[in-house]
Amino acid sequence: MKTYLTGIKPTGMVHLGNLLGAIRPAIDFSNNEDAAQFIYFIADYHAMTASRDPKEFHENVYSIAATWIALGLDTKKSIFYKQSDVKEIFELQWLLSCMTPKGDMNRAHSYKDKVQKNADEKRDTDYGVNMGLYSYPILMAADILMYDTNFVPVGKDQKQHVEIARSIAQRINEYFGEGTLIEPQEVLQENGAYIAGLDGRKMSKSYDNTIPLFVPEKKLRKLIMKIKTDSQPPEAPKDPNDSLIMDLYKLFANDEQVKSLTEWYQRGIGWGEAKQELFLAVNDYISKPRDEYNRLMDDKAYLDEVLRDGANRAREIATTTMDRVRKNMTGF
Ligand code: ADP
Ligand code: TRP
Repeated sequence: MKTYLTGIKPTGMVHLGNLLGAIRPAIDFSNNEDAAQFIYFIADYHAMTASRDPKEFHENVYSIAATWIALGLDTKKSIFYKQSDVKEIFELQWLLSCMTPKGDMNRAHSYKDKVQKNADEKRDTDYGVNMGLYSYPILMAADILMYDTNFVPVGKDQKQHVEIARSIAQRINEYFGEGTLIEPQEVLQENGAYIAGLDGRKMSKSYDNTIPLFVPEKKLRKLIMKIKTDSQPPEAPKDPNDSLIMDLYKLFANDEQVKSLTEWYQRGIGWGEAKQELFLAVNDYISKPRDEYNRLMDDKAYLDEVLRDGANRAREIATTTMDRVRKNMTGF
């Protein structure tokens, strides 16, 4: 049985880009595939490299948990937990650290980018870099290697991290025996599948152009009305193949609805009307999960229980792995 594992960083409310690019495919995949094991976890301690507000951190962790459950993740079938509940991860991280050349961390993208930015801005190269950020790829390697993971579905920005995990596993196997760790493989999401945001650029928290998934209906409508459009008059026929509104609409509406809106475009539609149609389609799609999300956010005890159950199942695997790794690496 192959194991698929991926981590989700709790950094604020999920947006439509995250939903369509990452969460929906991951949930569909795990619900439809019986011959594999799925481990989806909240990478909460990864977020500590930048988090300085415990209240916000705490809320973000629950928000991510509630989102995945509200969108239909089967938490019995897959293993869903938060990283910090599996203390073995941090023991493994240390053992991996001792087998990782410092140079590999110097070359890791997130650190290198920060150094470059500091150089560009004529600051000390390590300005704003903490050791958590620096050794982030080793913690991620521990997340992956702990469960004898075969496949890691990630975006291409994370490819290098999975390669680092693989190379650490190889080195450890060379020194301490084949089979000490399993070498993981990344599974890359296709390119070019980016969902555009309100201003037409890639929807991203970094651009502040997102449509967050579970904002109240009124706010959702207000945001959709903000989507950038041109100044064509309402009666002018519009190109359905060159429209951000239409692109988003297609992701939420059925074929018949798309056909009918396409015809309306060709006849001439006001942008306000097109946005209203988009709002109705998105709202229709997320209204049930949004109710469920809100219900779950008011029932933290339930979320705790789900995460605890997930952590117990994760720890069963983690303790077995650690017994093997510790034995091979230290003799104990
Ligand atoms: P953000 O850019 O808003 O900070 P993250 O980097 O946290 O988002 O992305 C979390 C997941 O969502 C990743 O798997 C990423 O590939 C996916 N994702 C983010 N933005 C988009 C988008 N606009 N279109 C498709 N997928 C996206
Ligand atoms: N680094 C990933 C990100 O920023 C999150 C993550 C942490 C992860 N541990 C992982 C992803 C293990 C895949 C496997 O998105």
